[in-house]
Amino acid sequence: MNLLAVSDLNTDDVKHLLDRAISLKKRHKRGIPYQPLKGKVLGLIFEKPSTRTRVSFEVAMYHLGGDVIFMSSRDSQIGRGEPVKDTARVMSRYVDVVAIRSFDHGTVEEYASHSSVPVINGLTNLHHPCQVLADILTILEKKGGYKDIKVGWIGDGNNMANSWIEMAAIAGFQLKLACPEGYDPELAILDGARASGASVEVVRDIKDAARDADVLSTDVWASMGQEEEREKRLDAFKGYSIDANLLKLAKEDAVVMHCLPAHRGEEITEDVLEGRSSVVWDQAENRLHIQKAILEWLVVDNG
Ligand code: CP
Ligand code: NVA
Repeated sequence: MNLLAVSDLNTDDVKHLLDRAISLKKRHKRGIPYQPLKGKVLGLIFEKPSTRTRVSFEVAMYHLGGDVIFMSSRDSQIGRGEPVKDTARVMSRYVDVVAIRSFDHGTVEEYASHSSVPVINGLTNLHHPCQVLADILTILEKKGGYKDIKVGWIGDGNNMANSWIEMAAIAGFQLKLACPEGYDPELAILDGARASGASVEVVRDIKDAARDADVLSTDVWASMGQEEEREKRLDAFKGYSIDANLLKLAKEDAVVMHCLPAHRGEEITEDVLEGRSSVVWDQAENRLHIQKAILEWLVVDNG
């Protein structure tokens, strides 16, 4: 079993992962050890930089009693063109589970099709499932549930937006995404979510997405790998920011989320990111707890 996209999960899987994350978080806070992954090794293969995903996976694995091997494409044969299918077969002989961060989602799919151990997507240009699982955990904690809420997404129709759309289809919340023209989420993902009855809408007006929202979320205007488009994107995304005025349109108790890293003054203002509605640090912490639930689910429950 793999976790390459949120759509690999069903409603029960999401509920299970959230229940386990909550329980593992409680255990951790009380200092009660839980080491079901003793003797197991996680391979991290990262072709892009990372702070949260890498560290939360490493710490999760250590807390669960296992070990980690980190490989960047720079210092492995992947960077010198060794085929993905060869790497996958060799790594399967050494490690018990792999998390990959790559550019093309097809690379992770190809890797998974040649791996005999579970593969986790640690971000591709198309999806970021582990982040959105941490996000829904954060919403559950802050709002007590996620079914009858409105989430307003402001900005790029990127990997995060795509994973939010897939999560809306499973978790059942209303999702309104305000994206500038030309920067919509992946059409096939939108169509798939709508076909399954999800309440997902793409609009141009950020006020429309923010009005009466329980959650406002955003992400950088230029993702990793889009550095050359930065100037063009700065122009295209002008106004697609979460600021104090936009926040006033959301519900009084709305929370503001950001997967981080944040670009203050672009997709979010400093005062909102640091303000009373922001839950970004709890959101980042929850990466650790949900990674544990994911690792346990893939290696222990389905191993
Ligand atoms: N949110 C997130 O995935 O952060 P990193 O790029 O630091 O892993
Ligand atoms: N959309 C961003 C998310 C970073 C966690 C990127 O892909 O760079």
